[in-house]
Amino acid sequence: MTKTILRALAGETLPTPPIWMMRQAGRYLPEYKATRAQAGDFLSLCYNPELAAEVTLQPIRRYGFDAAILFADILLLPQALGADLWFVTGEGPRLSTITSESDFAALKPVHAIDDTLAPVYETIKILRRELPEETTLIGFAGAPWTVATYMIAGQGTPDQGPAHALMQGNRLLFEQLLGKITEGTIEYLSRQIEAGAEVVKIFDSWAGSLKGEDFVKYAQEPARIITEALKRRHPGIPVIAFPRQAGDGYIGFHAKTGADCVAVDDSVTPEWAAEHVQIDGCVQGNLASAHMVTGGDALVSETRRVVQAFSKGPHIFNLGHGITPDADPENVQLMIDTVRGA
Ligand code: CP3
Repeated sequence: MTKTILRALAGETLPTPPIWMMRQAGRYLPEYKATRAQAGDFLSLCYNPELAAEVTLQPIRRYGFDAAILFADILLLPQALGADLWFVTGEGPRLSTITSESDFAALKPVHAIDDTLAPVYETIKILRRELPEETTLIGFAGAPWTVATYMIAGQGTPDQGPAHALMQGNRLLFEQLLGKITEGTIEYLSRQIEAGAEVVKIFDSWAGSLKGEDFVKYAQEPARIITEALKRRHPGIPVIAFPRQAGDGYIGFHAKTGADCVAVDDSVTPEWAAEHVQIDGCVQGNLASAHMVTGGDALVSETRRVVQAFSKGPHIFNLGHGITPDADPENVQLMIDTVRGA
């Protein structure tokens, strides 16, 4: 029997939605922290295929999620393109910045990415051997705009100010950078599919800071280009697009990009998303991740609400964004039991 996630992605309405969780391998799990300590730092974990496969499998063993997501990071691609990358404990990622033509010219050619990313493909191969047969393996990459915001600023920013400044100040350079990341993403995701990823997801975490025409040009259009190229090379591999906080930009995103599924965050209600987004195809989402911290009756009632709101069409249950390190693992079990009607 076909895997439940693939059935939902093919447009089937299932009596119980399949479920997985963004950042399901992460610091809220004691077993993740133990393996991470064994690896040393976060990047060493990402580039160690045995250990990266191990942390990917941990939430599958503990909870039996319907999908596993490759353990890696969206910032490995900029690193493979030649940016310096490191993580400051308690603060987040740091990268060398791209703000001038000479910074851009110093990046490596797209075909060089495999030199750095080969261990990621190895992780995928291990996972395809070790995952239970009913579990779908999802590969992923950052969307060009979100990746560019980190490459331009050299770190996470509250408002993506430096990337907006480059867009306004040197649009040609900005668009060249976006174009290069788009090409790199197509190659990276193709390689993940060739290694065994059964679905790919494009994370545009900062899509919400693009408005109007900028959203169309720099969030929607790159998602369409990537999806179209992947569909040509790998027909039948579903694509999940996640233009986080897109608001009205979510409307029509399936048709405008060719994505099989649009993931929605919790800045929109599930009822709104059912009416305006799910009418066009499968949706993924969108329980607020704060419930994984607070639990209780609110978790149960909001989980039921999400299931109910999306029950008339294809749906993959997920959070609206990644689970946070302060979440209680028991709340995750409560969410799963509620979704599965136990
Ligand atoms: O979802 C998963 O479990 C798969 C693995 C995954 C990670 N990052 C592991 C990770 C995925 C899909 C990502 C995507 C990612 N990475 C995004 C897009 C999705 C989103 O959440 O919006 C972004 C913006 C990044 C960049 C990034 N990586 C930041 C800003 C940080 C620091 C913030 C933090 O939580 O510390 C990371 C680090 C990171 N990526 C961790 C994990 C498990 C925490 C690292 C650690 O163990 O200390």
